Amino acid sequence: MKVLVTGGAGFIGANFVHHTVRTRPDAEVTVLDALTYAGDLGSLAPVADDVAFVQGDVADAALVDGLVADADVVVHFAAESHNDNSLADPSPFVRTNLVGTFTLLEAVRRHGVRYHHISTDEVYGDLPLRDPADPSTDVKFTEETPYNPSSPYSSTKAGSDLLVRAWVRSFGVRATISNCSNNYGPYQHVEKFIPRQITNLIDGVRPKLYGAGLNVRDWIHVDDHNAAVWRIVEDGKIGETYLIGADGEESNLDVVRTLLEVFGRDAGDFDHVTDRAGHDLRYAIDSTRLRTELGWKPRYTDFREGLEATVDWYRANEAWWRPRKAETEAKYRASGQA
Ligand code: NAD
Ligand code: DAU
Repeated sequence: MKVLVTGGAGFIGANFVHHTVRTRPDAEVTVLDALTYAGDLGSLAPVADDVAFVQGDVADAALVDGLVADADVVVHFAAESHNDNSLADPSPFVRTNLVGTFTLLEAVRRHGVRYHHISTDEVYGDLPLRDPADPSTDVKFTEETPYNPSSPYSSTKAGSDLLVRAWVRSFGVRATISNCSNNYGPYQHVEKFIPRQITNLIDGVRPKLYGAGLNVRDWIHVDDHNAAVWRIVEDGKIGETYLIGADGEESNLDVVRTLLEVFGRDAGDFDHVTDRAGHDLRYAIDSTRLRTELGWKPRYTDFREGLEATVDWYRANEAWWRPRKAETEAKYRASGQA
């Protein structure tokens, strides 16, 4: 099977390529990636001999047409992915997330190629914080939750999902969509919450919490996400959306406290910094469809254990993250979030 992986030099895409090389020797993998600030060929170094790499833009119709013509399946990870960046400058988000997805859809339509679209739970907006005294707060996102995105990032992802749905219905494109919750694991850019705090702690710097830190994210290990993506590519129903999540709800404050414990630091050894504009309160995924229809279940069920393994990875791979750290923190200083 020939698999075209867009965004394969980014965090989840690179882990998907590693997972695929490890578990599917029959797959011929080609990565298409523009190598933006978020892409790193070093993330593919351990599998460099097993994959073909093409540097290019998913919105480049001629390039995409040729690559799609030669593929059996396209798994589309490439995106501008960071909410804070989308608040500073939304324009690349519109181009990559919307025009890029449109470009791929037109190519898979022309060539009759199977397409899987990687998306996010943020398309659904946010949920109220849980309150044990109020049963109406005991809710999660399902495949039926109405779209209600909050940020430029999530609105472009929502738009891209809707393009996919329209291309399935209007043109018979063979596509599936998955909306996953927050991923953690190796090769995640130091701009994101968990790697930012881990690398701060390695440097002896206090973790930075937006606002009060009460916002909740539903954490899943990146390998569990990618195992689910393969189940959907293989056996997912065309036109269907699958939510991917591992019941990993944690407040940002609790994540920071756990990291402080892992690093042997005092529980109060962190800073509150300027909150994110429009900051979503809580995400939580009901992944019943994926579990019952496709038999998927997460392997990483102990968040602390997964976090410790991730800390070990960042400790052992400083050469991978160090070149991006200073520049990333400079951006956060400029926005008052350092
Ligand atoms: P990332 O920012 O780490 O990687 C994105 C990759 O896409 C980079 O390698 C970058 O170079 C590439 N890219 C960007 N613009 C491109 C373009 N125009 N053409 C070709 N390549 C381009 O992102 P990630 O965290 O790995 O997210 C991957 C996908 O998963 C995204 O679609 C994101 O919306 C989705 N997602 C992410 C999470 C998460 O927690 N990180 C959760 C759910 C869904
Ligand atoms: O839910 C899936 C989404 O998860 C993906 O679609 C996005 O691509 C991915 O970036 C992620 O979005 P978030 O905005 O939830 O992730 P981020 O790592 O930026 O932030 C996680 C939480 O931590 C959020 O509530 C903001 C907070 N935060 C973030 C940073 C960088 C902090 O408190 N301090 C920080 O320094």
